[in-house]
Amino acid sequence: MAPAIQAQNLVKTFGDVRALDGVSLDVPEGTVLGLLGPNGAGKTTTVRVLTTLLRPDSGRAVVAGVDVLKHPNQVRSLIGLSGQYAAVDEYLTGRENLQMVGELYQMSSRDAKARALELLEWFNLSEAMDRTAKTYSGGMRRRLDLAAALVVRPPVMFLDEPTTGLDPRNRLALWGVIETLVDQGTTLLLTTQYLEEADRLAHDIAVVDHGRVIARGTADQLKAQIGGERVEVVVHQREDVSEALAALAPYAKGDPDVEKNTRKITVPVSGGAKVLADVIRELDARSIEIDDIGLRRPTLDDVFLSLTGHATIAEQNGDRNTDETGRPAKGRKSHGKEV
Ligand SMILES: Nc1ncnc2c1ncn2[C@@H]1O[C@H](COP(=O)(O)OP(=O)(O)OP(=O)(O)O)[C@@H](O)[C@H]1O
Ligand SMILES: [Mg+2]
Repeated sequence: MAPAIQAQNLVKTFGDVRALDGVSLDVPEGTVLGLLGPNGAGKTTTVRVLTTLLRPDSGRAVVAGVDVLKHPNQVRSLIGLSGQYAAVDEYLTGRENLQMVGELYQMSSRDAKARALELLEWFNLSEAMDRTAKTYSGGMRRRLDLAAALVVRPPVMFLDEPTTGLDPRNRLALWGVIETLVDQGTTLLLTTQYLEEADRLAHDIAVVDHGRVIARGTADQLKAQIGGERVEVVVHQREDVSEALAALAPYAKGDPDVEKNTRKITVPVSGGAKVLADVIRELDARSIEIDDIGLRRPTLDDVFLSLTGHATIAEQNGDRNTDETGRPAKGRKSHGKEV
């Protein structure tokens, strides 16, 4: 399938900072690419280049079949963007904000109204729709910004940290909205600080660090790449620990770890559920009573840590709001309002 988003060797420097150091990626039509990476990795810069808000020093990008550098206006009419820094008009109501976007995109005023109401409903904003956005909470603004990006049902969408700052209920609701869009054929590039979000929504994940893509694959492929599958057993009686170790030995792919106090044994394995079933049979044959047993797989957090050497992204989140990194206010356009 033709890629709906394609970037080749994008380079962008800001003074001494090489924000993009040769980013290449492609997103097949109708799929979701999750862009993960620590703060400052280059995620937002990549999104800004692909959405025509920023010109790269070099490299090439094609979105929805159109060259981003040669025909930015045409690209803008084919994409939706919701940014890390929400751009809504403070002095308009929620409803007016959405209607305005529709009208900017030449929808009839009736269609724009109907679409606004539909989106307000989707994003749980119906009750607040006639209040000015100035009175909205951070999460409400974010949802309004996302709704604005969806007014015209663009074939390609860019969402830069769509759920940062949303409570769990609204995050779940937004995941539902995104899944519906993708079912309907939208291609999506999503950056996120939440690995769970990438795990759930993204067909493919690209890990970015220091302006480069350092790993690429499905969540399962990335997890398999770092290995780290293990069986954890908690035996009922402390005296059984050594017998249990003997039972586990044939399956161990590395040294076992024993926590005496909790009677928990952890053994690296490979082979997944089959190994777990074998181990259970073996323990049973030796009449070892167990309190708990399970197969633990690496999480995306483990992948992230192993690839970037940083703690998980969410843990670094404490200082996000202060990390505006000289982003010029003029650059904070969103969802192509200026087309
Ligand atoms: N307008 C700018 N002027 C100067 N430096 C910039 C500008 N925009 C980005 N940078 C720098 O480029 C690098 C990449 O920034 P970018 O915003 O793309 O990171 P990010 O991956 O989106 O990070 P975060 O997770 O914090 O959102 C950072 O070092 C940042 O300071
Ligand atoms: Mg960013």
